Amino acid sequence: MDSTGARDVSLQSAADFFGDETDIEAIQEIFMSFQRLMSFYKCAIMEIETKFRVLDEQFSTMHERNPIDNIRTRLKSVQSIRDKLIRKDLPMTIDSIEENLNDVAGVRVICPFIDDVYFLANCLIGQDDITLIKMKDYIQNPKPNGYRSLHLIVEVPIFLQEEKRYMKVEVQLRTIAMESWANLEHRLRYKKDLDETTMREISDALNDCARLSDVLDKKMQAAKNIIET
Ligand code: GTP
Ligand code: MG
Repeated sequence: MDSTGARDVSLQSAADFFGDETDIEAIQEIFMSFQRLMSFYKCAIMEIETKFRVLDEQFSTMHERNPIDNIRTRLKSVQSIRDKLIRKDLPMTIDSIEENLNDVAGVRVICPFIDDVYFLANCLIGQDDITLIKMKDYIQNPKPNGYRSLHLIVEVPIFLQEEKRYMKVEVQLRTIAMESWANLEHRLRYKKDLDETTMREISDALNDCARLSDVLDKKMQAAKNIIET
């Protein structure tokens, strides 16, 4: 993995991706375009990450604390891109990736407080080079399993040697409590060979934990508000 979390894409995985293609030159050409597109997504990740780091820096000089605890980035793997195109019955082409997938580039911002999540989201959306494509507020409206997070799909320009290109990035903003819940839930979801009763117990426990983590976030926020006033 490199600094943007990108996996090295081998020619073999390109061949896996475009399974029907047998002409090696054609595969090579598709592979080059694929790598070019992935590189654009990497640039978009860098742009968004820098925007958050700038906001964090400015906020910390003004308020003597950081609204960002951690930033994690990831580029979707060839395998996951392929699986998603198949799952959604979408064309298996480079153009189709760019047109149809919103989450090839991912940036996750983890914050100490709920207020920080909305503050950072609003700052980002307010920037004049950012276009908000979609927002899903799973903090106001948690998923049935208890998942909370603020999701944005944004478009950001990247400046190349001879062109400006707009790339889509999925931004997930959440608190430390939301992050630890989501990590545990993700791990438990992939536990296999559990009977139905155990599955139900786990899902009830996760729901309870989600409620507790919501209470934790709200109490922390309230305590901070008291300190600040
Ligand atoms: P895809 O799942 O990517 O097809 O997108 P979607 O359009 O249904 O988006 P959604 O906003 O529901 O989820 C996008 C991402 O949010 C996922 O890839 C996960 O990273 C995260 N996410 C959504 N729901 C859950 C959840 O229940 N648990 C955990 N741990 N993560 C979730
Ligand atoms: Mg996704």
